[in-house]
Amino acid sequence: MKNIFDTHTHYTDNAFDEDRHELLASLPETGICGVINCGTDIRDSETSLALAHKYPYIYAAVGIHPHEAAKSNSSFLSFMRCFIEDEKVVALGEIGLDYHYDFSPRDVQKQIFRQQLELAKEYDLPVIIHDREAHSDTLAILNEFKPKGVLHCFSGSVEFARDALSLGLYIGLGGAVTFKNAKRPLEVASFVPSDMLLLETDCPYMTPHPHRGKRCDSSFITITAQKLAEVRGTDVRQILNQTADNARKLFNIKEQSNEKPK
Ligand code: NI
Repeated sequence: MKNIFDTHTHYTDNAFDEDRHELLASLPETGICGVINCGTDIRDSETSLALAHKYPYIYAAVGIHPHEAAKSNSSFLSFMRCFIEDEKVVALGEIGLDYHYDFSPRDVQKQIFRQQLELAKEYDLPVIIHDREAHSDTLAILNEFKPKGVLHCFSGSVEFARDALSLGLYIGLGGAVTFKNAKRPLEVASFVPSDMLLLETDCPYMTPHPHRGKRCDSSFITITAQKLAEVRGTDVRQILNQTADNARKLFNIKEQSNEKPK
């Protein structure tokens, strides 16, 4: 299989310290044509950008994750502006709200989220949104800014998906659709129009069934694609091609480079 686009990864994570280069260099052999590696704070965004420079098929999203919102200081915006000048930065992410862990106070999460949405609008960049148990506040804030972007690892209902789609947002689906108790993700998976669907792993997390417990990487994405093909009554090739096209469109990626990594 070729033409597989993983729109959400964390290859800077310690879980990849032992074999990062071997793994990333081998991705094209598994059919991966594009990867968007997401930042969680300034330092991680910088590392993410360095990976994007090393591997032609890796692109960077830069941003402050809601978990890190309380730790970011007022200079974060000037760092972000600097990153955005780089041609391998294709989005701001991951940004949003997380009321499951509440690692940062909610008012701080909202403030940092808003500041980054403003920046995304200023530079006309898409956003990669993290929303965990914060659906109504996330939607309300997105409604204020109406950015281009994707709700990653979508965990809401069909109704919430409908609201997100009406704002022009894409729906990112990953390993959760393969989990044994998946019900809502599957309802959403069969509902989303094919031109608004993105595939992702969120690796090293969210490893698809039956490999849960193992470290995830982009090659596992075909298991998720298989499940989506099943519930949508189509074939896996169609899912992979369509979601890769959608990713290129949203993130404004014109050409796929086939160069060997440096
Ligand atoms: Ni993530």
